[in-house]
Amino acid sequence: MFKPVVTPGDTSWFVRDRFGMFIHWGLYSLAARHEWVKYNEEISDERYSYYFEHYNPDRYDPKAWARDARDAGMKYTVLTTKHHEGFCLWDSQLTDYKITNTPYGKDALHPFVDAFRAEGLRIGFYHSLIDWHHPHFPIDGQHPMRNHPDAQEMNKHRDMGKYVEYLHGQVRELLTEFGKIDILWFDFSYPDFVYRGLPGKGRNEWQSEKLLKMVRELQPGIIVNNRLNLPKGNADFYTPEQYQPRSWVRVDDEPVVWEACQTFSGSWGYYRDEETWKSPEQLVQMLINTVACGGNLIMNVGPTPRGTFDDRSLHALNVYGDWLRAHGRSIYGCTQSEFAPPQDCRFTQNGNRLYLHIFNWPFRFIYLDGLAGKIRYAQLLHDGSEVFVKSALRDYNYEAVAQPVSADTAVLELPVRKPNVVVPVVEIILE
Ligand code: GLC
Repeated sequence: MFKPVVTPGDTSWFVRDRFGMFIHWGLYSLAARHEWVKYNEEISDERYSYYFEHYNPDRYDPKAWARDARDAGMKYTVLTTKHHEGFCLWDSQLTDYKITNTPYGKDALHPFVDAFRAEGLRIGFYHSLIDWHHPHFPIDGQHPMRNHPDAQEMNKHRDMGKYVEYLHGQVRELLTEFGKIDILWFDFSYPDFVYRGLPGKGRNEWQSEKLLKMVRELQPGIIVNNRLNLPKGNADFYTPEQYQPRSWVRVDDEPVVWEACQTFSGSWGYYRDEETWKSPEQLVQMLINTVACGGNLIMNVGPTPRGTFDDRSLHALNVYGDWLRAHGRSIYGCTQSEFAPPQDCRFTQNGNRLYLHIFNWPFRFIYLDGLAGKIRYAQLLHDGSEVFVKSALRDYNYEAVAQPVSADTAVLELPVRKPNVVVPVVEIILE
């Protein structure tokens, strides 16, 4: 079993809890067509200010959000305090581009932290390194004004040092004004991305070493992701996104703590007309696939401009909640198994409890190579009903089995009908 690289942050709770809620919420939510809308459509600051002028999430109820996350089986949350657009969800003293200056007029972050903490979830802050609004953020290939004919000239009046002071100052606000913060989720670095002569930004531009040192001093034990462009050993966890790793994530060929970040649809921000919403099977299998490879999964909700989770998000959250209420112990506290699973199945494991997740329900038998004589008992996890375990060398008349099996193979005898759950699981208690 892999022992990931040890890092300064405390990941012990993280790798136990396994499942979190990402929340992307900002001015882009009003556009309702992706959080990168200002970049994608090269929207001017003046036109984008319409969203600031009309930002008023009058139905915002973080206690409802927190209940939805808890009921979905999510154990921690990460909220965008500021996304690339530069808009801040708290009453920052370092900018006017903040929620308290919109028609809504109130800080959203303290109520959020209080509500989720009250439901027992760990608190994470996403914070964008990129800032499309700040007057001293140099225009680059990730900026909405990347194609402006005067971009190079404009950059002569932009002082990256002033922006870095702002960036570090706001991170200090976030880590000193909201109590214990468990995760800091920075996004993102692109040191090698040069666009039309506009250089990228990485550890040197962000002054990442100084920033991370401050973070760890202010919040001992906090875990920080890998997007500050620092060498291995600085990040507490790695963050593959929008694809499914097929094995334990490794850096320089060493296993690391990792968290896959995914969306219910394709967009992180609220996207009204998007149709690529994942099926219940995809949602549950993504969680299982991730834990079976030793990782965490954080699934994203993009709240509406009114401050609600829309019906599609609530449906997806209910899929997770329904499945995890019956199958949670095959996820929480589990990791990659020492055994290889049979076809169309995944294993997760927690000590002597091995969980067989069956993605394609077979007719009557599943063959577990290498497990003969190692299984004490087995049961369907959703209802606790026994599953018979047969061994090639035990008291079983193999004429009834479709084909002979090797001596080290155990055979599970399953009901003909698939149980009425998205992904059935057999809990195997090892000798
Ligand atoms: C990508 C997206 C960004 C999102 C992040 C979450 O970087 O571009 O909008 O916040 O993923 O992981």
